[in-house]
Amino acid sequence: MSQVAIYPGSFDPPTRGHEDLIRRSLHFVDRLIVGVAASSPKSSWFSVDERIELLTTIVADEDRVAVERFDGLLADFARTTGANLVVRGLRAVSDFEYEFQMALMNRKLHSGLETVFLVPALHLTFLSSSLVREVASLRGDVSDLVHPAVQKALEQKLR
Ligand code: PNS
Repeated sequence: MSQVAIYPGSFDPPTRGHEDLIRRSLHFVDRLIVGVAASSPKSSWFSVDERIELLTTIVADEDRVAVERFDGLLADFARTTGANLVVRGLRAVSDFEYEFQMALMNRKLHSGLETVFLVPALHLTFLSSSLVREVASLRGDVSDLVHPAVQKALEQKLR
């Protein structure tokens, strides 16, 4: 049986940290669906279509990765896609409580849905999309933190 996992998130914008987790996931899943949440309560810089386009560019060399939007519950998206695993990143202890609650809620909503947590590469543990947005908006250098396509998109957004 092939192992299909979802890596869900806001990806506003995708960072090198997200990319790191996508590639790490491929060591133990057969197929990974990067799920861009369209129903996130957070206000976003990039539209869902823009985020999908950026992620698709980033993973263009990985034929086992698909990038898709999902509109409602992650649990329902998992049912629709046949995925039984959710991949999430843990960067610090402060991430844990929210992630723990989310994993339990998702399993309540879909009893077969398990969550695995991955730790990113050490040099990316401080990274978040909100920090990238802040640094970029104050004209800081984000070239090490995001894919060149994302850097270009940030520059265009701030022009
Ligand atoms: O990158 P983020 O913002 O930390 O990702 C959070 C996300 C999108 C994975 C989470 O908010 C989510 O799954 N949203 C979809 C709606 C849903 O299922 N909510 C209940 C989660 S327990």
